Amino acid sequence: MDQTFHSFPKCFVFGAATSAYQIEGGRSDDGKGPSIWDAFCDQPGRIQAGDTGDVACDHYHRWQEDVALMAGLGLKGYRFSISWPRVMPAGRGTVNAAGLGFYDRLVDALLAKGIEPNLTLYHWDLPQALEMEGGWRNRDVASWFADYAAVVARRLGDRVRLWATHNEPWCTAFFAHSHGIFAPGLKLPPRQVNQVIHHILLSHGRAVSALRASAPKPVQAGIVWNLAPVVPHGSGDVAAARRAWEFDNAWWLDPVYQGRYPELGWAQRGADVPEVQPGDLELISQPLDWVGQNYYFPIRYAEDPSAGPARARKMEAPASAPKNDWGWEVAPEGLTTLLNEFARRYGSMPTYISENGYCRFEEAPGADGRVRDAARQDYLRRHLLACRAALDSGADLRGYYAWSLLDNFEWSTGYKPQFGLVHVDRGTLARTPKDSALWYRDAIAAGGFEAPAERFADLLEPRP
Ligand code: FCB
Repeated sequence: MDQTFHSFPKCFVFGAATSAYQIEGGRSDDGKGPSIWDAFCDQPGRIQAGDTGDVACDHYHRWQEDVALMAGLGLKGYRFSISWPRVMPAGRGTVNAAGLGFYDRLVDALLAKGIEPNLTLYHWDLPQALEMEGGWRNRDVASWFADYAAVVARRLGDRVRLWATHNEPWCTAFFAHSHGIFAPGLKLPPRQVNQVIHHILLSHGRAVSALRASAPKPVQAGIVWNLAPVVPHGSGDVAAARRAWEFDNAWWLDPVYQGRYPELGWAQRGADVPEVQPGDLELISQPLDWVGQNYYFPIRYAEDPSAGPARARKMEAPASAPKNDWGWEVAPEGLTTLLNEFARRYGSMPTYISENGYCRFEEAPGADGRVRDAARQDYLRRHLLACRAALDSGADLRGYYAWSLLDNFEWSTGYKPQFGLVHVDRGTLARTPKDSALWYRDAIAAGGFEAPAERFADLLEPRP
């Protein structure tokens, strides 16, 4: 097949992402308080194979080696999260100078290597002390979160430009409070889950104000979504996919970008709607500077009059579709569809693909020390091509963060799924860049890569 060189804008941020609980370890070091994930992992049966993040990748102690690793790959950006209980052990009140100092040194080290930090305030590790007071069920969480945001912004806001309030708030709401599979493992009824969602949105708004008021320099505030990039199951299911988007995604996005809950979604939720106080939606809908979209796989919907208010049923990906070891479908066109549909509804804004990656099980270096992960390399290349296609169709796409820099603690499934560009040996914690990392390094250095041209259909456009 004909190869073409696909080049990216000079300022395009080729990066990688991690999160605090998944890589840091150092569970109680230097005054860190417990998080809900520490407590959850302590409960037998919650995590596959009894894994925990107590040590994780030991990044808390090996951060200098990890920054050197990033520099070796030529990364232009690094997305990471702050552990709230490392900075504020009880969630509010006392600030732990050692915890804050850790992130301060990390940011300096990144900048010294020309790697731009992209900081997330909440990637799921709520201080356990706050959970004891109701956590995300308690409306006060919005002010606790804002106070924490102010503490971090005062310290790092002179050097960190890109800030996200929440990572994938859908998971905080549903996995943690409805399905019970993420900390704190609750299974609440829909009305309470909708109240949790409202508190998360409110905390986002309050944190954006706090960030802007407290950072010594102007900062760029955003949020990182995991939208359901809906895809019609068959050609007759376009309308069902659109209704599913409306029901699931608009519930989060309309408040943030339009200052109101969607009328239809509000009616569809009946008595389960949350309590909203005057002024909440003004806070929630402050203009943002950028948006992060995490994309892994599309969600397919088919028409089904009996399937809830959206009358759309979630369908399995076709058996013939390519999948990763975890069964996640590989479909790069879902990325362009997601960006296009978002821009159609909420307008164009500076966008980053804040996570995207491919997992395998039981990956390890061969006898020659190499980790041969051609499937991940292919995934990376094709999703970057989808980014290129989005740029061509006018998307204001500023960068791409591969998930993940390191093989790490994958929440309830422990260390089994490996997403890293860099292999981490569970015994020695030794880091080995995989073949995909080396391919990425070369692509970054060249500002693009050779690949056959690919056309990515917009899956929500009616097909000819
Ligand atoms: C996302 C999370 C991230 C990681 C990847 C695989 O949902 O944000 O922490 O678990 O999935």
